[in-house]
Amino acid sequence: MTTIAESYELPCGVRLNNRLAKAAMTERMANPFQEPTELHTRLYKKWSETGAGLLITGNVLVDRDHLESAGNVCFDEKSDLNKLRSWASSLADSNSQLWVQLSHAGRQTNRFTNRNPLAPSAVQLHKMGLFGKPKAMTQTHIFEVIEKFRVAARITKDVGFSGLQIHAAHGYLLSQFLSPATNKRYDKWGGNLENRSRLLREILREVRKEVGSNFPISVKLNSADFQRGGFEEADSLEVVKMLEAEGVDLLEISGGTYEKVAFFIQDDSIRESTKQREAYFLEFAKRIREISKIPIMVTGGFRTSSFCNEALTNGDIDIVGMGRPFLTDVEKITSLLKGEELQLNSQKIRSVVSSINDSAEGGFYARQVLQLAKQGKVKKSMNPLACAMFLIYYEFTKGLKRKAPKA
Ligand SMILES: Cc1cc2nc3c(=O)[nH]c(=O)nc-3n(C[C@H](O)[C@H](O)[C@H](O)COP(=O)(O)O)c2cc1C
Repeated sequence: MTTIAESYELPCGVRLNNRLAKAAMTERMANPFQEPTELHTRLYKKWSETGAGLLITGNVLVDRDHLESAGNVCFDEKSDLNKLRSWASSLADSNSQLWVQLSHAGRQTNRFTNRNPLAPSAVQLHKMGLFGKPKAMTQTHIFEVIEKFRVAARITKDVGFSGLQIHAAHGYLLSQFLSPATNKRYDKWGGNLENRSRLLREILREVRKEVGSNFPISVKLNSADFQRGGFEEADSLEVVKMLEAEGVDLLEISGGTYEKVAFFIQDDSIRESTKQREAYFLEFAKRIREISKIPIMVTGGFRTSSFCNEALTNGDIDIVGMGRPFLTDVEKITSLLKGEELQLNSQKIRSVVSSINDSAEGGFYARQVLQLAKQGKVKKSMNPLACAMFLIYYEFTKGLKRKAPKA
């Protein structure tokens, strides 16, 4: 039997203390210069006290002109390295790993944060009118993105973080390139999968050259984006083979985009009998196992000790990823690692107006991240309507406070 408490050695030689990872959850707590603050340090200290072997930061953006939220941290040439060092050294246990998730929003950025989004092609995201029409990137833009990931990776290592993750899931720029629904290009960056995955592979090569062979590199990838004519499981399996060839140390599996938030909310319309009991991407992980030896982490829906251990023991995955339990049930994580049989909280936020359920649940957890950082504990209940409005209000007001980086 393999338990969640057992350690795990990655291909690069780094050993994780145990098999529990806190998945990335965007913090939205940066100062007006897109720098981390005291709140980041407090939050990550708190999360490290759970004993989880791996903590992955919320998405850190490689380009301050292409944020996903006005509250994102950005790692670039203008970053104040001392502030980044404080964040990197915030963990209670220096043997735990703190990896930075690096991302570029592409078209998936709200109008308040970015009026001029760039994307593989000029395909707009239609959701409540919140997203602007993107411009198709030129080759020069693409080369700039590769360079920005390289610089952000160098900074990540230099300031003392212990690894990094490239965010190629959930509909952000790299996921937009992978998906035929958003990538309509005819050049070497679009068309067949070889071309659509080129940007991700080029970034991985540059990043590996920059950080060396002993530094953990992970990729977060969608099993599918659940869009008609989009990125499908067959594509994802092919990309996994490419990632293995590039020497990726840990593949995190998720799925969906803002249009279909499968990484977050399971469709209420799916019949109970057809739903995976927990961990909705586990079936896909089993298919990866058949074609690849890449270390696998699955995130989404893990809630009981027994199910985590079952998935590990069956050899379906190597690492259990969890997000929301690190908010609403953070006090129980240590007991989970000690082997206590537990049912973690999976709070669903549902409003009388069902069309706002996605936004209400997104807003609820977004507020809990801030709440945990500020107060050290979450709020048990929040008004769904206020939660649904929160992100729009937050992005609008936070966007107004942004400042140009110091010279
Ligand atoms: C508040 C919040 C913010 C999130 N931000 C990110 C993010 O920055 N990057 C990312 O890859 N996933 C993000 N996610 C998705 C989580 O990493 C995870 O895939 C999802 O919550 C499902 O796991 P869970 O069922 O254990 O919560 C976020 C989730 C939440 C709740």
